[in-house]
This record gives sequence, structure tokens and C-alpha cells, in this order.
Amino acid sequence: MPPSNQAAWMSTKKTRPFKITNAPYTPPGPNQVVIKNTAVAINPFDWVLQFIGPILASYLSYPCILGTDVAGYVVEVGKDVKRFKIGDRVFGSAAGIDKNVNNAAEGGFQLYTVMREYMISSTPSHITDEQACVLGLGVGTAAYGLFHPKYLGLEMPSITSETESVEQGKRVVIVTGGSSSVGSNAIQLAVLAGYRVISTSSPKNFEYVKKLGASHVFDYNSQMIVRDMLDVLDGFQLVGAYVIGKGAVEICTEVMMRHDAKSTRKRIALAGAIIPAEQLVSCWGQVSFVISMVGDLIKSSIRQRRTGIEAKFIMLDDLVDSESVVAQVYQNYLPSALEARRFVPAPPPQVVGHGLEKIQEALEIQRLGVSGRKLVVTL
Ligand SMILES: NC(=O)c1ccc[n+]([C@@H]2O[C@H](COP(=O)([O-])OP(=O)(O)OC[C@H]3O[C@@H](n4cnc5c(N)ncnc54)[C@H](OP(=O)(O)O)[C@@H]3O)[C@@H](O)[C@H]2O)c1
Repeated sequence: MPPSNQAAWMSTKKTRPFKITNAPYTPPGPNQVVIKNTAVAINPFDWVLQFIGPILASYLSYPCILGTDVAGYVVEVGKDVKRFKIGDRVFGSAAGIDKNVNNAAEGGFQLYTVMREYMISSTPSHITDEQACVLGLGVGTAAYGLFHPKYLGLEMPSITSETESVEQGKRVVIVTGGSSSVGSNAIQLAVLAGYRVISTSSPKNFEYVKKLGASHVFDYNSQMIVRDMLDVLDGFQLVGAYVIGKGAVEICTEVMMRHDAKSTRKRIALAGAIIPAEQLVSCWGQVSFVISMVGDLIKSSIRQRRTGIEAKFIMLDDLVDSESVVAQVYQNYLPSALEARRFVPAPPPQVVGHGLEKIQEALEIQRLGVSGRKLVVTL
């Protein structure tokens, strides 16, 4: 008898709150496992899809199951799976809403999810499932923008020895929004790949961001931020900027224009601006969001023509590909880095509650904004 499954369903493109009801239990295909989820984390994309799914992800077929960030244990293993066995504790990135997948069985917001072997890692014994589930989309988006040749194309972290520390040279990457989920992961990955990182956050999060490895952190609201960054960059090579948050592209473009041209690699990878909570609630807000997205694209192409600096929006096109930089991070890098405590799940989890019913509540809280925290629901 297969286990009985339940899910938080989006029955139609407008379903809000989720409908909690039965879901089929789907056995794993080749190179897949089924995991029993014990904790899931919430991303802005989850609630964004509840409001403007048809605009941003018109390919989604309904009913669908959202959710990408999961942790739990393996209950069934498909053909050719080598890295995992039944009972192993794992975490990873569920692929259900990926354009190339579009499959409810692989959605995260359910009790049993079919996961691709190359998109999960073992959870070390010192890390709880609540902590591990925060990594999912945050670490994937960070790795993609930093290491994919289409974006910053930085060198991947190399783990030669679990205790060896990578010597930090003269290469600096700017990661704005260091206290966000994506930013927290980008800082850690860049540092462990051997780059110095300068970052931005609110002053209350400076210590948190420094603990993740940033050498300098600046207030993104400061009027002096460009000059302060240029001072710190003096004598260093700027290899690119990984950008999160409103206004950050403009700041990084100015820094790149004014920093010593010979030692600046003019590449910006743009994860996104933080979407204001109220904007997507009303129809007018949704229209104005789309208009501002188009406006940003036009401004960005004018800026690029003027400065020669392209800010490329990160499109996770081949995220779910066994050869992608993200798959490499899950398979070759995260297991040992986490085990050796050279990488920590960040931001720390804030558990909203237990059960699929709590997921909608967690989405509403995330929509109102979080700071240096990842919202988690246990299952
Ligand atoms: N392109 C993609 O495929 C992709 C994938 C995932 C996420 N994203 C986007 O990436 C962004 C970050 O996502 P997330 O899940 O990491 O968000 P999050 O954790 O919800 O972000 C919250 C954080 O944003 C910071 N922040 C707000 N405004 C900022 C600004 N102007 N400059 C710098 N930091 C600012 C806040 O910092 P303080 O509290 O310190 O003020 C807060 O810690 C979002 O726009 C999301 O939509 C894109």
C-alpha cells in the first residue's frame, strides 16, 4: 500500500488560500527518490505565483502544487539512484513548477514529493530539517547567478580538503541584499570560491551579514554608499555584482563606472527587487507591477547602452538539469561544506507552525516582508 498523501493545491490560477486535500502518491522514476517532507520553507515566488502566476509562469498547468524548498527523509528510491537509500535525511530543491517539469508530483507543498537525485543533498546530523529546508531556491538562485557562464561566470568553489581554507586574493564580488535568503547563500558561496565579498543590508543586520563572510557591509539607504564601496575596492579587482533589492543595480553600475576600469569586470547578475507587499493584492497594483517591470527593462537597456554594463535578470532556465551549476553544488559541494561547517543554512528558520494548513499563513507573513529570516512550516 503506498502511503496516503496530502497537498496544498492551487486548483486554479486564482486559488488563494490553498486547498488542502488528498494527492496521489507518485513513485520515483529513474534517478529520482520520493521524500517524506518534514519541513518546507517559503519563498517570495510562492505568493507571487498566487497573484500573477499566469503572467510570470503561463506554462503552469492546474491543479498544481507550488513549493520548492524541502527537507525530510527518503521513503522510496528509483532505478539508478546511487547517492541515497531509504531512510536517509535529505534536503533540496523541488522541481514541480520548473518550466521544463510542470508536474504536481514534484511540488514541495505536499507530504510526499518526487525529487531529482541531483537536486538534493544529505542533511548532516548537526543540522535539523527546519534548518536544512531553507537552502532550496536560495542556494540554487545564488549558485546560478554566481557561477553560470551566462551571468557572473565565477569559478566554482573547490573542496580540496574539508578543513583547508581558501586563500582570499584580490578579487571582490559585490552581493547586495546580504540578509536576504538568496544573498545569504550568495555571500557564502562566493567566499568559499575564494572571492572577497562586500555587501549591503539594514544596519541591524550588519553583524549577521559579516558572520556569513562579507568583509564589509553597507546600509543600502546610505547616500555615501557608492563612495564607501569605491574606498573599499581601492587596489582590488571587482569581478562582478550579484544584485538583490531596489536601487542596487544603479549603485553597482555607478561603482563599476568609477572603479579602476582595468580591474573591473562589468557584469551584473540581477536576482530581483523586493516586491512591496501591497502591490500585488489589487488588480491596479498588479497592472502597475507589470508596467514597472517593463519600465525597468527599458531603463536597463538605456543604461546598458550608456555605460556598456549589462544587468542580466537571472532566468533559471536550466536549473533542473543534471549538468547545471546547481546540480554540481548539490552533488559535489554542499554535502562536504555543510558537514565541515564551512557553509551554514541561512537565513535561520522561523517556524510559523505545523501542517499543510499553515503554509498559506506563512506565505502571507513572507509577503509582508522578512528580515534575515526564512519562514518555515513543519509537516
Ligand atoms: N531570478 C530568480 O529566479 C529568483 C529566484 C529567487 C528569488 N528571486 C528574487 O530575489 C530577491 C530576493 O529573494 P529572497 O527570497 O532572498 O528575499 P527575502 O529573503 O524575502 O528578502 C528580504 C531581505 O531583502 C532585503 N532588502 C530589502 N530591500 C533591499 C534593498 N533595497 N537592498 C538590499 N537588500 C534589501 C532585506 O534586508 P534588511 O532586512 O537587512 O533591510 C531583507 O533581509 C527577490 O526579489 C526574489 O523575488 C529571484
